[in-house]
Amino acid sequence: MKAPSIVIAATLLCSSTLATNVTILRPNEPFVPNGTLPPPHADSDGGSIVQHFANLGRSTKWKLISKTHFEGDTGEPEGIVRFGDDQYIVSSGVYTVATKSYAHEINGTDRTLGAGYAHMLLYDGKGRLIAKGRSLPCP
Ligand SMILES: *[C@@H]1O[C@H](CO)[C@@H](O)[C@H](O)[C@H]1NC(C)=O
Ligand SMILES: *[C@@H]1O[C@H](CO)[C@@H](O)[C@H](O)[C@H]1NC(C)=O
Ligand SMILES: *[C@@H]1O[C@H](CO)[C@@H](O)[C@H](O)[C@H]1NC(C)=O
Repeated sequence: MKAPSIVIAATLLCSSTLATNVTILRPNEPFVPNGTLPPPHADSDGGSIVQHFANLGRSTKWKLISKTHFEGDTGEPEGIVRFGDDQYIVSSGVYTVATKSYAHEINGTDRTLGAGYAHMLLYDGKGRLIAKGRSLPCP
């Protein structure tokens, strides 16, 4: 369960490389939350989430329900998964070469690839960094 989830996130961010460099900062913390997780949203309230999602727009008013400060540098977060109250997994990019905008769209994109690393960050429920995985350089 541990290794595949790291590999999947790195693959999404950077299809040519795998996460091979994992630093564990809190070795006594488990990589997966203890105990029983709540049912996945797909099995509980997925239908209502889809309805709310369809109504999101630029004028949507957001209500802050909690704040979690993530320890260290998150890079540029691309995705986040919350596992119950105990853990967060964040996928992010850390760019070493910035993208450059084209004057017009080329091959379905409006900018150069840039370069950098895909990161996978595992935090506990209080935002303390448990482990981080870094891909080989992308592309
Ligand atoms: C592993 O990643 C860390 C940053 O997370 C970096 O400082 C270190 O040089 C990397 N090691 C290798 C072998 O790439
Ligand atoms: C998870 O379980 C381990 C082993 O039983 C324990 O050492 C650890 O404190 C627990 N962590 C949490 C967040 O409950
Ligand atoms: C666009 O795609 C073509 C065909 O794959 C390639 O030859 C060309 O270099 C690409 N252009 C850019 C700017 O990436």
